[in-house]
Amino acid sequence: MSITTLAVPGVRGLTPYQPGKPIGELEREFALKRIVKLASNENPLGASPKVLEVVRRILGGTHLYPDGSGFELKAALAEKLGVEPAQIVLGNGSNDVLDLVARVFLTAGRNAVYSEYAFAVYPIATQTAGATGKTAPAHDGSRGPRFGHDLETMLERVDPDTRVVFIANPNNPTGTLLGRGELYSFLAALPEHVIAVVDEAYFEYARCPDHPDALEWLGEFPGLIVTRTFSKAYGLAGLRVGYAVTGVEIADLLNRARQPFNVNTLGLAAAAAALEDTGFLEATVQANDAGRSQLEAGFRERGFDFIPSAGNFVSFDLGRPATPVFDALLREGVIVRPLGNYGLPNHLRVSVGTAEEIDLFFAALDRVLVP
Ligand SMILES: Cc1ncc(COP(=O)(O)O)c(C=O)c1O
Repeated sequence: MSITTLAVPGVRGLTPYQPGKPIGELEREFALKRIVKLASNENPLGASPKVLEVVRRILGGTHLYPDGSGFELKAALAEKLGVEPAQIVLGNGSNDVLDLVARVFLTAGRNAVYSEYAFAVYPIATQTAGATGKTAPAHDGSRGPRFGHDLETMLERVDPDTRVVFIANPNNPTGTLLGRGELYSFLAALPEHVIAVVDEAYFEYARCPDHPDALEWLGEFPGLIVTRTFSKAYGLAGLRVGYAVTGVEIADLLNRARQPFNVNTLGLAAAAAALEDTGFLEATVQANDAGRSQLEAGFRERGFDFIPSAGNFVSFDLGRPATPVFDALLREGVIVRPLGNYGLPNHLRVSVGTAEEIDLFFAALDRVLVP
């Protein structure tokens, strides 16, 4: 008997999440002096020095359990976001919160709706909970930005067994952004039995005037959950802190299923300190704007189609299978992300790095693509 047959069906059918290749792994594989990792949408500026100082100061307290209620971080977030602490659920990264939503609202016989090319964790969380994932084809470019969520089709996919819709805004790996009006109309049209998760992991980077802040609609839509993270613009991916903001009833349900100490001591303190360093956040967003333009210019120069992105990454079309190019870039010490598992076998996703890292990426790409 195979042990695999003992697992629940949803897990047996899963394809594991493919994280960006860690720098250490590449160092072990090839003897490389300089490695550039542009694979996981991390902050190339690191974290705020003020945050690191706070983390250093509290290192002596690691033998104690963290504050399981996250009191101080929730208070700081509540003040910043203009909500009540009881509306916030903290997670071990926002990934944890997405998983909690699935565990609380999904089970066998229910389904979740998400878009083609949407963030890979939605199917994982859905199927692990025993539910079925329903994928709505993305825009083909005729009625909305190519690769972007097609909210009309997503709405058509909703049925009496749907309990959750996942919307990433901006979406990873496409970087596509939904505007205020269309997202609002979609949320307003959703039936009452459906929880809408608006995943705003890249919220801070998307600065176009039409960019919705879904928190504004919490009072209006009782089934709305907005998720955000400290992993991206705040540069704390390694400390794992994310959160959901929602109505108090949903927050209470999510908190019931949450592991009691899901956010660690260092993460809690670092996130609270990070909220205060608005200068670092501003510098991050400005550097990202510049780096994203640098990437776009480089793709244009080389004649590659890229997907206009509102995040801290750009996906581009090589016009041929991307895996050999990805592998060759690895040997050059450059880690990017292949998107075959998203159904985009000719695309690579490149995170916005420093200007120097982007130059190194293009130099490596040019070497690799020499006929
Ligand atoms: C769209 C989206 N949502 C959520 C996450 C989860 O990030 P974290 O768990 O680090 O908060 C990511 C990470 O890449 C993402 O791209």
